[in-house]
Amino acid sequence: MTSSFPFLSSPLTNGKLQLKNRMVMSPMTTSYANADQTPSQRLTDHFVERAKGGVGLITVELVTVDTEHRYLPNSMTLGDDQYIEGHRRLVDAIHQHDCKVQPQISHTGPESIAPMSGGQTLGPSINIAPVWGWPSRELTVDELAEIAIQYGEAARRVREAGYDGMELHAAHCYNLLGSFISPLRNKRSDEYSAHGKERKTRFLLEVLEQVKARAGGDLPITLSISGYERYPGGRTLEDTQLIAPMLVAAGVDCFRVSGGVSDNLVTGMVNSSEYGYAVNVAQAEAIKNVVDVPVMVVGRIHDPEVAEDIIANGQADLIAMARPLLADPYFPKKVLAGTPERIRRCISCENCIDSQAHQANLACAVNPLSGREGELSFARSGKKVVVVGGGTGGLEAARLAAEAGHRVVLMEKQRSLGGSLTLASTVHSDNERFLRWLLAEVKRLPIDVRTATEASVGSIRAENPDAVIVATGAVVETPDIPGVEQQHVLTGALLRQVAAGVLKDDQAFRLPRWQQTLVNSLVQPLQPLMTPGLLRRVSRWWMPVGREVVIVGADLVALELAEFLAERGRRVHVLESGRKIAPEVGNKRRKEHMDRFDKLKITLNSSVDIVRIEKSAVVIEVNGATAINGAAALNDDIAINDAERRIHGDSIIVAGNVVANTVLADELENAGMVTYAIGDCTGLGLIAKAVRTAAEAVSQL
Ligand SMILES: Cc1cc2nc3c(=O)[nH]c(=O)nc-3n(C[C@H](O)[C@H](O)[C@H](O)COP(=O)(O)O)c2cc1C
Ligand code: SF4
Repeated sequence: MTSSFPFLSSPLTNGKLQLKNRMVMSPMTTSYANADQTPSQRLTDHFVERAKGGVGLITVELVTVDTEHRYLPNSMTLGDDQYIEGHRRLVDAIHQHDCKVQPQISHTGPESIAPMSGGQTLGPSINIAPVWGWPSRELTVDELAEIAIQYGEAARRVREAGYDGMELHAAHCYNLLGSFISPLRNKRSDEYSAHGKERKTRFLLEVLEQVKARAGGDLPITLSISGYERYPGGRTLEDTQLIAPMLVAAGVDCFRVSGGVSDNLVTGMVNSSEYGYAVNVAQAEAIKNVVDVPVMVVGRIHDPEVAEDIIANGQADLIAMARPLLADPYFPKKVLAGTPERIRRCISCENCIDSQAHQANLACAVNPLSGREGELSFARSGKKVVVVGGGTGGLEAARLAAEAGHRVVLMEKQRSLGGSLTLASTVHSDNERFLRWLLAEVKRLPIDVRTATEASVGSIRAENPDAVIVATGAVVETPDIPGVEQQHVLTGALLRQVAAGVLKDDQAFRLPRWQQTLVNSLVQPLQPLMTPGLLRRVSRWWMPVGREVVIVGADLVALELAEFLAERGRRVHVLESGRKIAPEVGNKRRKEHMDRFDKLKITLNSSVDIVRIEKSAVVIEVNGATAINGAAALNDDIAINDAERRIHGDSIIVAGNVVANTVLADELENAGMVTYAIGDCTGLGLIAKAVRTAAEAVSQL
């Protein structure tokens, strides 16, 4: 059989690093290691699942060269011989699935968390680490020689643990090596300064010498390096091209090219969708042009079609992927099988990185098993399951239950599946990748899908199910703002009713008669045709809002709606009474929306009192104490008076509050049926919660 991805499927044979295909897992520190810095069972399960998925090489996460300078509280080390055994078990488990594996070896330098236990971070100069804010101490020349030996010793342990190679981390002006080769952090004036290619690389070359001497020349060494640092005063691509051949001569067998520097939201390292796809390819190709060893490229290469082209065009030899393999460990197998449509693609939501920062948990929004590989399992017990609701949670529950061999009936009251994910995919197109995948999987599996079917206790009982999974979604409550009852005010509740094609009295009055008739008579029958793509196209020439729009409320959906409107030429203002916008997401995702607001010229005022809604304005009161973050309490002179201000809008949208609605689930439970309520019907939770609770419910069947 000829592969539809001949380049990605082909083995890598020209060099020390020999691989069965061109797909590599880029390092992702999971925080799953034991507190004693050894690999845990959870961490092993996580990587073994990726090995089973067919990837050619796994670069397991960052592993430190010394025990003192940890990267995270639950990260790993090879800083002593006692750690070899644990790594050997990890390697053996991965090798059982015909997959090569290497660690990413690093001295954490300025990024160490040593100060948490009374220690000191170290650097080429005094550097403040963006994440933690501690200043590092400048290393002496004698200390550098000791650290180079630590690298060499760690490399020896890499070989003794049975790894197939190692990656030296020198990218993103990050950790010790990355800091030495960047003028942004290396401010030294001695022979290790960042001036001139010899000085800049001196420490790195000494490290390579120790690595070669202690690990042996046959252990393939990959160097991760930023092609250029995308920052004023940072290392240029020309500089990287100058040092690359020297590094090859010193023993580098492969480069993994990324780009940018790290900040406290790893903006340049873990790129958002604003960067577009395949961000570092030109840099990788430029480096490939000056060396004869294989070059790997990483950075938003999230689709196999793009990856295949990169290799086919000779721009890189290997494709490294991080988030795509969190979202779908079986991405490589699906490529090899020629079924790319079955890949569950990353939607760039940043839940993984945001959840790692806050919950020490690398949770993928679309893959409920990520990090819970050994914990959640699905029994093949052939039960009859009724799933009510065809939105994210319902589709995922139906899919998982059918995969597990249960007999599944999926009831959806609309004429098409998708629920609120259809609207979410319309306003934020990244989500559509997941919607399309869910719909295709539900179609592929033996699921009895019944659209236009309103479920009730009676109709569900008639199915005689062993269990019912209720995924009927939340309700949107309109806040009690003076003036909100006026006809011209649009609400989140109304928008949902319009999308469903079912207007209710509480909101219908907001639309002119002819529009009510249109919604009631046309939306329902046309629903199966109304894909997010079509809705986006239609919205380019007509939307029921004026030129200037005020949105009251700033949850994630409201932010995405604001961007959607601004992209279509509307002037948009967002008003929020709380201090925090989109509290349901983490800092990285929130900052991405702030950046988009900036670009799209959307104004945002949080911490304002919404006083009333008028004919063409929302009246707000700026509370001095809140507006200046408490400073008013200390200094009356700079307090902003509680003055009313008018924010003009031709249209006013009140987003509303998403609240739980477990009416059906409660009725079913009271009727004695085994019932699981999942997703938003138990309260707002986005895709991540819908998918997680669906998996938890199915695992209990
Ligand atoms: C949760 C997470 C943890 C990461 N940890 C590391 C790490 O320990 N070392 C590293 O060099 N890169 C790390 N990265 C960066 C990835 O290896 C990769 O370069 C980046 O995510 C861009 O690739 P992608 O678009 O395929 O995700 C991490 C990325 C994520 C999402
Ligand atoms: S959490 Fe979001 S960004 Fe991270 S891998 Fe999953 S889909 Fe991609």
